[in-house]
Amino acid sequence: MMSKNEETPFWAAADAHLLRYGGAFERVIIERAEGSSLFDADGRRILDFTSGQMSALLGHSHPRIVETVRRQIGDLDHLFSGMLSRPVVDLAQRLGSLVPGLEKVLLLSTGGESNEAAIRLAKLVTGKHEIVAFSKSWHGMTAAAASATYAKRPHGLGPAAVGSFAIPAPNPYRPRFKHPDGRLDWQTELDDAFALIDSQTTGSLAAFIAEPILSSGGILDLPLGYLAALKAKCEERGMLLILDEAQTGIGRTGTMFAFQRDGVVPDILTLSKTLGAGLPLAAVLTSAEIEASAHERGFLFYTTHVSDPLPAAVGLTVLDVVEEEGLVHRAQVAGSRLKARLEALQQRFACIGDVRGRGLMVGLEVVTDRDSRAPDEVLGKRISQEAMRQGVQMNIVNLSGMGSVFRIAPPLTISDDDLDAGIDLIAEAIAAAI
Ligand SMILES: Cc1ncc(COP(=O)(O)O)c(C=O)c1O
Repeated sequence: MMSKNEETPFWAAADAHLLRYGGAFERVIIERAEGSSLFDADGRRILDFTSGQMSALLGHSHPRIVETVRRQIGDLDHLFSGMLSRPVVDLAQRLGSLVPGLEKVLLLSTGGESNEAAIRLAKLVTGKHEIVAFSKSWHGMTAAAASATYAKRPHGLGPAAVGSFAIPAPNPYRPRFKHPDGRLDWQTELDDAFALIDSQTTGSLAAFIAEPILSSGGILDLPLGYLAALKAKCEERGMLLILDEAQTGIGRTGTMFAFQRDGVVPDILTLSKTLGAGLPLAAVLTSAEIEASAHERGFLFYTTHVSDPLPAAVGLTVLDVVEEEGLVHRAQVAGSRLKARLEALQQRFACIGDVRGRGLMVGLEVVTDRDSRAPDEVLGKRISQEAMRQGVQMNIVNLSGMGSVFRIAPPLTISDDDLDAGIDLIAEAIAAAI
């Protein structure tokens, strides 16, 4: 019998009317989702090991989120952007009380937008315009965010923002600079990179924008000590440090924010994906001092959905659930289980070159052989397709040059049973693909 996922009118309408925005669509029709599971048109369960687009922190349709959306949309949905409501002030207070030095909050909708606002803030308060980022970064599709995105450089659109620079992201699996024992010498790499920045700058360095774990860049976890050294490089040059915790924020890595492992506080922090746990909510956090200086200079970021009550109410519930269900700790515990089991698979399959990451954000890299460590994108794609067939969604980074890294980041609410079931399916997928 033909699968209902093959329904001809559905795909004909999709082909006729959807503007293609990147990559191919999975040939599956998702009808509904619950917790860590998606259900397709045949009623088949697919485990969601990427939390949707790395956002469904609490799983899908968490009862508390459903309740909040139902209540809030009936009470107060959207407002004139110059009006305030209780959910907005409450969420600003909650977020602004989490980290000393980041007490001022701007509530927006998407990650790109939050980085756009962060870069605008940095340019305005420093009076400079040059922005440095990592060579494998992803900060969004809007102009300033895209100019700081190097994992996929837009082609055919003319110049990026004037004063856009990149430095290599440190990669312990493929070190560019090594200590005598072969380990990554990230300090020398960082010094070398900033020597190059210093030779290119026209004296207008405004900020460095970084993901604490580069996600689209292939789950590259900045080595312990790197962020502090990066902050020092910024301070020496009068630059601000912007951290983009779109994916790592709100507990995913086993601390509320990934930067807390390093004892470094950024000048500006952006949150998105995980803050709305699947609904469009983003935030920019900064110090009272930076906020005051920006305000004095006429900071403008007036959008349609700034300070909207409905997503703000969702954000409050996300923080409540994370706290009440102990999900930051859960990310540590479940993350250790996930990593240990993937490391066991690495013993079994020679094609798994590396298992890396923190908490429930783990990368698994497929290589042609362990000596050369050459990425195997062909096998990566085959494993990805096989996993989907087996019933687990765990996408490779869908960018050329990075199709060998799986990003495994299930909801923090995933049960041990579902986690184990998913890993068993991944093992079957690898066995079938090789
Ligand atoms: C680290 C990071 N920052 C920003 C973005 C952009 O967010 P959005 O797609 O919500 O604009 C992404 C999206 O994948 C991301 O991974």
